[in-house]
Amino acid sequence: MTVHIGAKPGDIAETVLLPGDPYRAKWAAETFLTDVVCVNEVRGMLGFTGTWKGNRVTIHGSGMGMPSLSIYANELIRDYNAKTLIRIGSCGGMQPYVKIRDVIIAETASSINTPSSAIFKEFNFAPCANWELLSAAVAASKKRDVGVHVGGIYSSDVFYSERTDLDEEMVRHGILGVEMEAAELYILAARYGCRALAVLTVSDHLQTGEALPSDQRERSFGDMVEIALEAAFPE
Ligand code: HPA
Repeated sequence: MTVHIGAKPGDIAETVLLPGDPYRAKWAAETFLTDVVCVNEVRGMLGFTGTWKGNRVTIHGSGMGMPSLSIYANELIRDYNAKTLIRIGSCGGMQPYVKIRDVIIAETASSINTPSSAIFKEFNFAPCANWELLSAAVAASKKRDVGVHVGGIYSSDVFYSERTDLDEEMVRHGILGVEMEAAELYILAARYGCRALAVLTVSDHLQTGEALPSDQRERSFGDMVEIALEAAFPE
């Protein structure tokens, strides 16, 4: 048990999928895994361990924003020995060619500030995905009937951003989408010698104002879970 995770030692698999929403963790575990056991309920941040094609996997909520993700990723890595951490979640599209329902595989995650900024001070560390996971996710995504983009994203702790100037610079510099967790996940993976990746579904678009209707979110989310699982355990 840790401060925020009630799982017993050994309850958490080496491979952990991290959706922001704990109920998405429940849905994904019940939909894609077998022999599912709930391993955490502390503060309603649900975590489940099960099996996918013979491989042990944990799907655990991260909460929203990098301060929340940092708590769970730190404890999963340092106390439960997680080695491969894949964020699955939604993002806002930022380029005109990025469409609602497309999948973004985040090669890098820029940010203004993360919980690790105090370490880096004036230094601009470049958080990047694990190459093995990234290339396996790209291969897995190509087998599916879904638009896929691979490149840089932007992680922000502010959903209701007042920095439209910054959004414009992100667009000008080719950033594909915005979300709220990946940069800190990539930094923690670098610090602790783990593998990390973020696979994201475009749920809304900053330029067009479009948003994915709630009844269509589940299907898109399913593609993303399968891409993440296939990336973690390529054939
Ligand atoms: N901003 C930040 N995070 C998000 C967004 C967004 O527009 N959409 C989905 N996650």
